[in-house]
Amino acid sequence: MPDYARYPSLEDRVVFITGGAAGIGGDMVRQFAGQGAKVGFIDLAEEAGRETVAACIAAGAAHAPLFIAGDLRDIDALKAAIAETGRHFGDITVLVNNAANDDRHDWSEVTPEYWDDRFAVNLRHQFFAIQAVVPQMRRAGFGSIVNIGSSCWMIKEDFFPGYAIAKSAVQGLTHTMARTFGPDNIRVNAVLPGWVATERQLQKWWSPEGEAGTMEMQCLKRRITAEEFNQMVLFLAADDGGACTAQSFVVDGGRGPL
Ligand SMILES: NC(=O)c1ccc[n+]([C@@H]2O[C@H](COP(=O)([O-])OP(=O)(O)OC[C@H]3O[C@@H](n4cnc5c(N)ncnc54)[C@H](O)[C@@H]3O)[C@@H](O)[C@H]2O)c1
Repeated sequence: MPDYARYPSLEDRVVFITGGAAGIGGDMVRQFAGQGAKVGFIDLAEEAGRETVAACIAAGAAHAPLFIAGDLRDIDALKAAIAETGRHFGDITVLVNNAANDDRHDWSEVTPEYWDDRFAVNLRHQFFAIQAVVPQMRRAGFGSIVNIGSSCWMIKEDFFPGYAIAKSAVQGLTHTMARTFGPDNIRVNAVLPGWVATERQLQKWWSPEGEAGTMEMQCLKRRITAEEFNQMVLFLAADDGGACTAQSFVVDGGRGPL
């Protein structure tokens, strides 16, 4: 069993996570709650969202997470969820832009409507969540924003161009916004997973050949878990990551080209 760090600075810290019901985001909610943070999260998946809250309470979390059901393609709903979390717990000082959807699609069949939808679910909300949360961080005097990207485009995966192109822009967003908010003591970083063996990945996309190919590319010859991926997110959210901003951290078991 891994023995992970405990971050005293995360105790009572107000954290907002997008897509926190399942997968990497679900684990993230549980881990932040386990560190004593006050966590609000938005997700489409109502049942999974309620289960995540129940799991945190069952594990003895000091603060029950606040789950807000909603679709973050609707920017007003996203902004309302951020405002509600701030009212419920106090000013948000950690934002993790995590939600995304990696459905496969062929480049030749992408319509303008589907393109817009891929960008709405994979990129647009990250910018507007930042826009909504920064006034709260400014009031608090500090903040940490962590944008979840993907290393898929770096290794040239080509079975979901709308996803991969949107994910590549997460780094541009991160680096630009880090300059904008540096004077406010607000840090902005990106964390890029390689292949993380979440339930959805295993159910929808796993194949023996796919896993063998990943193991060939990775330096570590084993699956990377959401729990170990999220250690980087916790570090960046905590005071321990206090000098890190405008960076992209790849957590992929040594799969990618960086
Ligand atoms: N798992 C991997 O191997 C992997 C690899 C590269 C990047 N990533 C990135 O990591 C992050 C988490 O991925 P994951 O594998 O945990 O995904 P996942 O699909 O397991 O979980 C995503 C969560 O976001 C929610 N969500 C999706 N669309 C939403 C919407 N419109 N409104 C509200 N909630 C919505 C889902 O309901 C789900 O709870 C994503 O940014 C993804 O791009 C994951």
